[in-house]
Amino acid sequence: MNFSLLIGFLGLILIKWVDGGTNYTNTDAMVELTLVQSAVAKGAVCLDGSPAGYHLQRGHGSGANNWLVDLEGGGWCNDRDSCMSRSTFSLGSSKYMDKILFSAILSNNSDENPDFYNWNRVRVRYCDGASFAGEGYDNVSGLYFRGQRIWSAVMEDLMDLGMNSSQQALLSGCSAGGLASILHCDSFRSLFPLQTIVKCLADAGLFLDYVDVSGQRTLRDLYDGVVTLQGVAQNLPKRCISRMNATSCFFPENLVNGIDTPIFLLNAAYDTWQIQNSIAPISAEEDGPWKSCRLSYLNCNSSQIEFLQEFRRKMTRVGENFYQSKATNGLFINSCFTHGQAVLPDTWYGDNSPSIANKGIAQSVGDWYFNRSEVKLIDCPYPCDRTCHNLVL
Ligand SMILES: *[C@@H]1O[C@H](CO)[C@@H](O)[C@H](O)[C@H]1NC(C)=O
Ligand SMILES: *[C@@H]1O[C@H](CO)[C@@H](O)[C@H](O)[C@H]1NC(C)=O
Ligand SMILES: *[C@@H]1O[C@H](CO)[C@@H](O)[C@H](O)[C@H]1NC(C)=O
Ligand SMILES: *[C@@H]1O[C@H](CO)[C@@H](O)[C@H](O)[C@H]1NC(C)=O
Ligand SMILES: *[C@@H]1O[C@H](CO)[C@@H](O)[C@H](O)[C@H]1NC(C)=O
Ligand SMILES: *[C@@H]1O[C@H](CO)[C@@H](O)[C@H](O)[C@H]1NC(C)=O
Ligand SMILES: *[C@@H]1O[C@H](CO)[C@@H](O)[C@H](O)[C@H]1NC(C)=O
Repeated sequence: MNFSLLIGFLGLILIKWVDGGTNYTNTDAMVELTLVQSAVAKGAVCLDGSPAGYHLQRGHGSGANNWLVDLEGGGWCNDRDSCMSRSTFSLGSSKYMDKILFSAILSNNSDENPDFYNWNRVRVRYCDGASFAGEGYDNVSGLYFRGQRIWSAVMEDLMDLGMNSSQQALLSGCSAGGLASILHCDSFRSLFPLQTIVKCLADAGLFLDYVDVSGQRTLRDLYDGVVTLQGVAQNLPKRCISRMNATSCFFPENLVNGIDTPIFLLNAAYDTWQIQNSIAPISAEEDGPWKSCRLSYLNCNSSQIEFLQEFRRKMTRVGENFYQSKATNGLFINSCFTHGQAVLPDTWYGDNSPSIANKGIAQSVGDWYFNRSEVKLIDCPYPCDRTCHNLVL
């Protein structure tokens, strides 16, 4: 398994926008890391045993009693080697964590983040490698699998810091963090009294159980490893576990219709992480025609585009079923080649940001959260959308 590909989302450091893209003046804040109190005593530790951490910027004014908690993403680790590698940088150890920029959905600037800029905003750092859901310890490697304890301990810290008196709260997350926001959505809800408005947002978290170009189920195999190695089964929603095995219950398509809390799915139909790691992974075809298509949609031939259209059809089916399962759900699936659109200013909010029927992403999420309107937006298939910010690697 190619380790760098598993990290996936880190690849964004290398991104180039093919089209779109705004020149935006950065006034966002760098926010310091806070280590979880008594993390080690609670076992709320990263892969290497170091304490878990998060970043908090306080809200003010009308947002002073509202909380946005965003779970960081960054792939998974599915075996000893990949988890060992992660334990040597920030996705597996707080020793390498530093302050971070709060932008897009975390920005404190109303021009960039009109609905949530004055809320209390939190980014929870991801250092367990199992979407905040593992529990275990490997006495051979000395690695800790404590995602679930990290989740609980961070929530305890935040409740002590005033989240216990929230009027409105939103749990969000991108990529592996988007999956985590699905997994923990109802448990987040249960932290608050009934009168608190609580919802969840999964950005680029709709990882599908899909057969790749060589007939393998690469992502399912990866999830199998994550779930088994990290002891995830005990922390997966019981409603799913009673119907199917733990690996299947790590896939959002088998979870989202069973969540009671209102939830919003935001995803690109041609999710570039899934193209590279699940639909056409290197393990399926290292050197053939998919090699260049995997890196940029501009290099795909017509039969490859058709393969990707079939993937989109499955994603829209999952989205439709999800939307119909509960009136309070929201949906935005645009026909773009990207991965993670709420965490980047260019795609989150701006004149030039992606939209469906003239409605952008921040507006869609806000309209849904605040009941300004129902939001169920599914784009027409590629290449009809001219508002995309497409990624090439
Ligand atoms: C952004 O700035 C660069 C360099 O100044 C310029 O070449 C480019 O055209 C600008 N892009 C937009 C969308 O304004
Ligand atoms: C955002 O936060 C930073 C750091 O606290 C502060 O310097 C900046 O003025 C804030 N921006 C806005 C628009 O309030
Ligand atoms: C490691 O854990 C296993 C299972 O709990 C146990 O059987 C084994 O003795 C342990 N090995 C060491 C070296 O502690
Ligand atoms: C919230 O927690 C703080 C600190 O632990 C406590 O002082 C306060 O009474 C709590 N408020 C509510 C509404 O539970
Ligand atoms: C889990 O269930 C799926 C779907 O029924 C099946 O194909 C897969 O082999 C099962 N995986 C394990 C590890 O049992
Ligand atoms: C397009 O890609 C497919 C699948 O990778 C390959 O089998 C086919 O030969 C390619 N077609 C052309 C015209 O290159
Ligand atoms: C939205 O509507 C639901 C159902 O009518 C209600 O329970 C909830 O409090 C409303 N949310 C907001 C943010 O007004």
